[in-house]
Amino acid sequence: MTAIETSEPTVAMPRIGDPAPAFTAATTQGDINFPADYAGKWVILFSHPADFTPVCTSEFMTFAAMADQFASYNTELVGLSIDGLYSHIAWLRTIKDKIEFRGMRDVEVKFPLIEDVSMEVARKYGMIMPNEDSTKAVRAVFVIDPKAIIRAVIYYPLSLGRNFDELLRVIKALQTADHFDVATPADWRPGDAVIVPPAGSCGTAKQRMDDQVDGVECVDWFFCTKELSADDVERAIQS
Ligand code: BEZ
Repeated sequence: MTAIETSEPTVAMPRIGDPAPAFTAATTQGDINFPADYAGKWVILFSHPADFTPVCTSEFMTFAAMADQFASYNTELVGLSIDGLYSHIAWLRTIKDKIEFRGMRDVEVKFPLIEDVSMEVARKYGMIMPNEDSTKAVRAVFVIDPKAIIRAVIYYPLSLGRNFDELLRVIKALQTADHFDVATPADWRPGDAVIVPPAGSCGTAKQRMDDQVDGVECVDWFFCTKELSADDVERAIQS
């Protein structure tokens, strides 16, 4: 087996369940003190490789167009790239003034975009993967909860634009899991059945298989679901 070659020291990236690493930074919306400024809110902290690049432009336009939707789930967006503030400002102005993509035009990016020329924040969050590119952040996504705990981490390479419907689904699924104490199965969307927590004892497992437990349907003792309407979900998680 050969060792992976890299000129950069390995940086431990924050993991699911870890507190979000703290930093202060200049952004296109002024200085931020992260995560303190976002206490009580969900945050999607995401990195992109570079300003003035096409995939990133398509992503920013899509995210900006969906910002109100994310806000309605108490979720703020914070972007980052290893570019300076003036580059960020010029790029966001170009997007608003000149770029049309999939029917979107005149798109104003109102969420903060962090300048990180020093790579301090990108390194802290493990956003640089030297064997992909040593000077550009990959497309990392950190979903951070209102207590500043990292709840999901998703990475994409430079060439692959993210799926923003999936990011919204992740927010809805995490909030639903928290609110109803359930898990969400493959491809879950609001309105689909949810998974009830596994039976914690032989007695509960037997009861679930032998008796009808209020709306719980068991395929086997370890695999039980219950209906949860889209209305109930949306009422619980929409702010
Ligand atoms: C882009 O956003 O288009 C891009 C950025 C870096 C490498 C490849 C594509």
